[in-house]
Amino acid sequence: MIKIAVAKGDGIGPEIMNAVLNIFNAAKVPLVYEFVDMGKWVFDKGHSNGMTPEAQTAIEKYGILFKGPMETPKGKGVKSINVTARKTWNTYANKRTFQTLHGVDTVFSKAGIPIDVTVVRENIEDTYGGIEHMLSQDVALSRRMITRPGSQQVIKYAFEMAKNKGAKRITCGHKANIMKLTDGLFLEVFYEVAKNYPELKADDVIVDDLCMKLVTRPDLFDVVVLTNLQGDIVSDLCAGLVGGLGFAPSANIGDHISIFEAVHGTAPDIAGKGIANPTALLLSGIGMLQHLGLMESSSMIENALLYTLENGAHTGDFGDKTTIALNTEQFTQTIINNFGKKPKHNPRANLQDVASACTVLNLEQNAMMETTDENVEKIVGVDMFIESNVQPEDLAKKCLRHAGVKFKLINISNRGTQVWPTGSRYTNLVNVYNARFESIDGEPLNQQDIIGLYVSMSGDFKICSVEALHMWGGKKAYSLAQGQ
Ligand code: NAI
Repeated sequence: MIKIAVAKGDGIGPEIMNAVLNIFNAAKVPLVYEFVDMGKWVFDKGHSNGMTPEAQTAIEKYGILFKGPMETPKGKGVKSINVTARKTWNTYANKRTFQTLHGVDTVFSKAGIPIDVTVVRENIEDTYGGIEHMLSQDVALSRRMITRPGSQQVIKYAFEMAKNKGAKRITCGHKANIMKLTDGLFLEVFYEVAKNYPELKADDVIVDDLCMKLVTRPDLFDVVVLTNLQGDIVSDLCAGLVGGLGFAPSANIGDHISIFEAVHGTAPDIAGKGIANPTALLLSGIGMLQHLGLMESSSMIENALLYTLENGAHTGDFGDKTTIALNTEQFTQTIINNFGKKPKHNPRANLQDVASACTVLNLEQNAMMETTDENVEKIVGVDMFIESNVQPEDLAKKCLRHAGVKFKLINISNRGTQVWPTGSRYTNLVNVYNARFESIDGEPLNQQDIIGLYVSMSGDFKICSVEALHMWGGKKAYSLAQGQ
């Protein structure tokens, strides 16, 4: 028997979790559940991360959390319990599988176009870092961190998963044409990792084009790997292709701890009515059984689910509106009654259990995920973000007074567009400018030089933010302004 932590969640969470556990119990799945306290109600009791310390201890001990959806309390300063859980335990890969389900009508199923797309979304970084500041009352800044080791973790997982699943193609979705450093780094790591998997066709598609291609020819895609926010959006798009959120399972995979949940939320509009569709959570549970090596139960339950859907049983949110919708309990019982039956379309082979690859280590310290970087590093300048509502020429005159003997003022930009020394009168301005200073004659600078400039500039301006400009091994480690 394998012990796992289970959190039923909020809203429809307890209803669909009970449904799935009833199916697991009827199938004699060799799991033991420890129910842990997590969710909005725990948050309301004063636990700011939405879980009790006992819940955290249990999850870290067993390494597996099977969870229902949880409500994020609305209001300032409250972070999502779901995102906190994924980030705290470094579940860096969010795997979401979208497959044609016979009995769930979509435009593609009606056109006979099969879909089998797995989206792997980076799960920790990007704008989900939630590192945000107001630079002025008018200007909000989000720091979007994409890191080399973070990208390596998720991309290596995606390639390994694609290989094991027998995929032919793996595609990186990105916006590296615009975000050259952040998405550029993710794309660079993708092709570095691809070298170790010559059997897979690795390619990349710009994310807007990817969305268009996914809705016109979803059958051309196999595994798609993306950064966090883009992956979030693309995976909901893919959920729509196969029938909606009621059919979208999700696995948050980490090296030590993994979380299995449905993509959908707490469905407050139908909570407590006993009519929720448990399919997405059941598919997530099936994914969890496979992750744990419990292949025998996973294939039996999946076949019963596919058979049930194929034969037209449905809850109120999908299926043939001319036939009576089942409530959650009836739908669950129908799946249990169908144990041992195989669907006509895509039946799963009866598999034997395999030893689980999951290991839970007792970690004594946090892992530092550093990659070796032998490039020579030097500071060549600084970006000073300053609050001002004067015109660019007047601002430049003031900034030039502070350049001193070490710095020259290179340009001034506003929202990333150069407005001095050249620019256009048609560029609208907001009250935060970036004054870019570089060292005279490319001489390396040090942090004290930057502090000196900061002190001098602060006599004239409110400085909102400062970024040093680095060169690594002769390459600029910063972006140029539009028009620079
Ligand atoms: P939602 O996914 O809860 O609901 C959207 C629509 O889909 C609703 O009409 C709902 O009735 C329907 N729906 C969702 N799941 C269903 C199911 N299993 N069966 C039948 N119908 C279903 O999204 P919404 O309303 O934006 O979010 C509600 C709450 O859920 C929020 O507090 C949000 O933060 C939270 N949430 C939690 C997630 C998680 O725990 N991983 C993910 C997404 C949202």
